[in-house]
Amino acid sequence: MFAGRRRLVFPIGAVLLILYLGYKLSVRRPEAGLWPEAQHPLHVNPKVLNDEDYFWRQIPTQYPVPPQSMRAFPQGPPVALPKIQAEFPQETTSDRKLRLQRQAAVRSAFQRCWDAYVKHAWLQDEVTPLSASSKNTFGGWGATLVDSLDTLCIMGLRQEFDEAVTAVAANISFETSSLTEINVFETTIRYLGGFLAAYDLSGDPRLLQKAREVGDMLYVAFDTPNHMPITRWELGRATSGGKQQAAEWALVAEIGSLCMEFTRLSLITNDQKWFSAAENIMLALQKQQMETKLPGLWPISMVALSGGLLPHYGDMYTEAMKTAIKYNFFRPMVPDSADILVSGIARTSTENGKPSVTVETQGQHLVCFAGGMLAIGGKLLNESGHLTTARKLVDGCIWAYENMPLGIMPEVFWMAPCDSDSDCPWDEKKWMQAVLERAGADKYDIDSAADLIKERRLPPGFTDIPDKRYVLRPEAIESVFIMYRTTGDPRLLEAAWAVFEAIQAVTKTDIANSAVADVTVASPAEVRQTDSMESFWMGETLKYFYLVFSEPDLISLDEWVFNTEAHPFRRLLP
Ligand SMILES: *[C@@H]1O[C@H](CO)[C@@H](O)[C@H](O)[C@H]1NC(C)=O
Ligand SMILES: *[C@@H]1O[C@H](CO)[C@@H](O)[C@H](O)[C@H]1NC(C)=O
Repeated sequence: MFAGRRRLVFPIGAVLLILYLGYKLSVRRPEAGLWPEAQHPLHVNPKVLNDEDYFWRQIPTQYPVPPQSMRAFPQGPPVALPKIQAEFPQETTSDRKLRLQRQAAVRSAFQRCWDAYVKHAWLQDEVTPLSASSKNTFGGWGATLVDSLDTLCIMGLRQEFDEAVTAVAANISFETSSLTEINVFETTIRYLGGFLAAYDLSGDPRLLQKAREVGDMLYVAFDTPNHMPITRWELGRATSGGKQQAAEWALVAEIGSLCMEFTRLSLITNDQKWFSAAENIMLALQKQQMETKLPGLWPISMVALSGGLLPHYGDMYTEAMKTAIKYNFFRPMVPDSADILVSGIARTSTENGKPSVTVETQGQHLVCFAGGMLAIGGKLLNESGHLTTARKLVDGCIWAYENMPLGIMPEVFWMAPCDSDSDCPWDEKKWMQAVLERAGADKYDIDSAADLIKERRLPPGFTDIPDKRYVLRPEAIESVFIMYRTTGDPRLLEAAWAVFEAIQAVTKTDIANSAVADVTVASPAEVRQTDSMESFWMGETLKYFYLVFSEPDLISLDEWVFNTEAHPFRRLLP
C-alpha cells in the first residue's frame, strides 16, 4: 500500500518537475537572448579570420603603416571595474505579469515590422512603411536586416534569425555597393557593429566572417597619408587604385565612435590592424582634446569594452565631462518647476580677446543619450556627481516627452533657462518674453507672444520648436533603459511604457512604423506620416524598449557594452 503510493508519487513528482522545467525554459527562452552555442568555444575556420584572397585585401595599399607604428591591444588580465547595474529585488507576481505583457507588446511591434521588411524589402536597406516598398540608403547591403540580427536574437526569434543569417551569408557582398559614396561611420556602427553583436550573441561563424569582410573593406578607407579614414568614401575610386586623401577634420562623434567596433573586431580575430587604426584616431583626438574639449559616449564605452586596459579613455571621458557639466547642461524653467536638466550646445567665441562660452538652450532628441552615458561613466569611475546629473538629464528627456501634446519629444526644441540651478519658480511672463526673444522680437508685447505661442503650438516651457519631427529615434529610451538598469527605479518602467504607447499611437502604419512630420499637433489623427523607417527603429529603439521590460540579467551592463547603434559587444571581464 505504502510502496504503491510511493510509486505513484514518483511519476507525479517527475511530471511536475518536467512541467516546472518546461515552464522555466519556456519562460526563460525568449528572455535568454543567447543561443546555447554562443556559450561554448567554437571552432572558427582560420580562413574566416584571415582570408588573404578576399577581395578587399587584394587592393594594393598606397600608404602602408610602418611596422613601428602598429599598435597592439595591451597584454595582461582585464581589470575588475565597479558594478554598473543595481541590485534588483525579487519581483512580485503582478509586477512580473505586467512587465511580461509589456515585453510581449514590444516584441509583437517588432515582429510586425520584421514581417513587413521580409515581405517588401528583403535584402534592401529599408522598408517604406506607407508605400510598402523599399529603398537603399546605407550602401544597399540590407541595413535593416543586419541592424536587426541581434534584436532577433535577444527577442528569441530563432527561426527568423536563422533565415536572416543564411541570407546574410549567401546574398550580401561587400565587394560592390549600389551607392557611389558610402558613409564610413554609418557603415561601421550599423553593419560591422551589427555583425559583431550578432556573433557575440549567437556564436555563428558566418557572422564573424561578414564582420571581417566589412572590416577589410572599411580598412581601405584608412589608406590615406595620415591614416585617418575618409568619412564619405567612394568605393569605386578605391577599387580602381586611385590615391585617397582624408579630410583635415571630421566629426568627432563619427571617427571617435569607430574605435569600439574596430577594437572588438581585433579582439575576436586577434588581428591587430583594426585596433591599431582606432588607436591612431584616439591619439589624434586626445592631442586635440585640450584645445577643443570633446564630449562623447565612446571614451567611456571603450573603458568598459577593454576591461579597463585602456585607461587613457577614462581620462578623456573625465576631461570631456568636466566641460560638458560646466557648459552644456542647463536647467530649463518649466511650469511644474521640475528639477531637470537639458543638454544644450556650448558655443565658444572670443570677446575682447578673451574666450567665452555661451550655451544655446536648445535640446535635441539625439542628445538624450547623454544621461545614459553619464550614468555608466558615474558608475565605472565612481563619480556620484555624474549619477545625479545623469538622472536629471534623463528626467529632462522624459519631461519633454510628457509635456508635448502627443507625448512625443520633437527633434529640436528650445527652452528658457533658469536664472539659478537651485531655485526656479515658473514665471509665465518670463516664458513669453523668451518666446519673443527666440522669434527675434525686440520688445515685450503680451499679445504677440500669445499669438506666437498659438501659431507655433508651444506647450508651456518650450520657447521654440524648429524641428517638429519624430523619426523613430532611440536616444530617450536608450537612456531610460540605462538609468533603469543602474538604479532599478520602477517609475522608469512606467515612463518607458508611456513613451512606447505614445510612439505606437502616432507612428503605426498598416504594415510597420513610420517617421512623422510634426508632433506638435493636437491629436494622433492630425499626424502626417512620412513613409520612412530607418533601420535604427528595429536595431535600437525597439531593442531598448524590449530590454527595459526584460529581466535585468538579459544583456547585463556588467557583461555587455552597447555601441552607438545599440549593438551589444561582450566586455572583457577578469
Ligand atoms: C540568395 O542566395 C541564394 C543562394 O546563392 C540564391 O539561391 C537566392 O536566389 C538569393 N536570393 C536573392 C534574393 O538574391
Ligand atoms: C567611491 O567614492 C566614494 C566617495 O565619493 C568613496 O567613499 C568610495 O570608497 C569610493 N568607492 C570606490 C569603490 O572607490
